[in-house]
Amino acid sequence: MPVPSTIYREVHLLPSILSADFAHLDDEITRVMDAGVRIIHCDVMDGHFVPNLTMGPAVVASIAPGVHERGGLLSVHLMIEHPERFLDAFAAAGADVISVHAEACPMLYHAIEATKALGVGAGVAINPGTPVSRVRDVAQLVDMVLVMTVNPGFGGQKLIPAALAKVPEVRTMIRPDACIELDGGVHRDNIRQVVEMGANWLVAGSAVFGAPDPGEEAKVLQSLMAGGPRD
Ligand code: DX5
Ligand code: ZN
Repeated sequence: MPVPSTIYREVHLLPSILSADFAHLDDEITRVMDAGVRIIHCDVMDGHFVPNLTMGPAVVASIAPGVHERGGLLSVHLMIEHPERFLDAFAAAGADVISVHAEACPMLYHAIEATKALGVGAGVAINPGTPVSRVRDVAQLVDMVLVMTVNPGFGGQKLIPAALAKVPEVRTMIRPDACIELDGGVHRDNIRQVVEMGANWLVAGSAVFGAPDPGEEAKVLQSLMAGGPRD
């Protein structure tokens, strides 16, 4: 399903199912989508690019129909070596946007063009220690830059302020219709600051699925993103 282009300019909360209950993924996703969430974030890890293993295309394929039926989208974050080898599989599984890491792609331009050729949105991700200049030459090509504000591999880490500080520079490079997805350590106390810095797709894993009521927490976070009261 082609991603409506306006969605890249909108502000969205992207719950990461990395912190969800994998035995009840459908229920977890239903909870947050009933709370107004439109985009679900899927963290794919290979035990090589990052020191953890998570899900492959089969898990994405199992949740995609439910998300799409509810009018939602899947943003798939590939923290894997040789991501270009798996683009077809994740597109076929139902990914709507796929991000590859700049650090994992010697032929980054090619990987992004290959993603777009599959009819899905193309994102490039950078780790906290990677300079923004690393994505300069693909910045006009991508639909999204994913700024990591923790070192990828695990949920529940603390946001690295120096990584957040890269957001305004990224914004000057990308197309006006492209988005900045920000990933890592986002929670109630910093989500508004993250929006104010210029990121507009905000990933939250442990903040949402670690909460007693993920649906209620998603509502609180979305309200804070929109400038609502802090309580
Ligand atoms: C970390 C993943 C994140 C993770 C974020 O490597 O890319 O998407 O789920 O988790 P929190 O929001 O708990 O930092
Ligand atoms: Zn992620």
